Amino acid sequence: MRPRRITTHKIQAMKARGERIPMVTAYDYTQAQIVEAAGIPMILVGDSLGNVVLGFDSTIPVTVEDMVRHSAAVVRGADTPLIVVDMPFMSYQVDAETALRNAGRLLQEGGAQAVKLEGGKPVAPIIRRLTDAGVAVMGHIGLTPQSVHKLGGYRVQGKTDRSADVLIEDALEIQEAGAFAIVLELIPVELAAEITERLDIPTIGIGAGLHTDGQVQVLYDMLGLSLGFKPKHAGNYASLGETAKDAIERYAADVKTGSFPTSAQSFHVDKQASESSESTRSLSSPYGSGN
Ligand code: KIV
Repeated sequence: MRPRRITTHKIQAMKARGERIPMVTAYDYTQAQIVEAAGIPMILVGDSLGNVVLGFDSTIPVTVEDMVRHSAAVVRGADTPLIVVDMPFMSYQVDAETALRNAGRLLQEGGAQAVKLEGGKPVAPIIRRLTDAGVAVMGHIGLTPQSVHKLGGYRVQGKTDRSADVLIEDALEIQEAGAFAIVLELIPVELAAEITERLDIPTIGIGAGLHTDGQVQVLYDMLGLSLGFKPKHAGNYASLGETAKDAIERYAADVKTGSFPTSAQSFHVDKQASESSESTRSLSSPYGSGN
């Protein structure tokens, strides 16, 4: 029997029990397998894939097709975590009908259990339409990367009393519209603590300090997979980019000196094997087993 997937209610129960909620992004099948094996209860198929996977300088060029494709790969890789997929730029802002159609695709073709969309009060009516239609929605306020040009860069939000009040109001409206949880990105610790205190739904922070109900990180940042810039809030858990570069350099050097592959890493003629056993040899991996 397939393992049961974690539900939005289970995520909410974690807040009620005071249990912190770890979440990371994943964008493909193998990453999803690793993240699930590490015991993460909730995965975000983030539109940050525009930056870390596709090499754009923002999330704005990401399409619904991109999100459907990557979501389906993540769903195939992880059986138990709740999978939340980002609605990309302009897939929900135009009107509720467009939002419903695109959320439908992300759930039906992408296989995710919930969608996430960015914005405060102005997107609350869209969230209401989606939740009324049975779609589980995660909100996202603070730094909303799809609005990077309006915000004038990737900057901390809610630093003044006035902007903090707007964010509190946004969070309450999003909860009221039926969201099951909300991401708080790049806001001061004190403001994140206040929002977390005032909401019944879980807050998931990124660059929002310790007092949110959960934390989310972009997998590439958390694992140090990208060789360039790493945000300070991502922590220092690994430097996989350097590790991979080192391994590839050693491989390239071995190829150049002729020390790779070794005899043990090669296949040899088997004089005993008959032609027919050759053709019926069973495969132990998707790429073939060899002898
Ligand atoms: O796209 C993403 O990875 C996100 C996180 C930064 C929360 O929205």
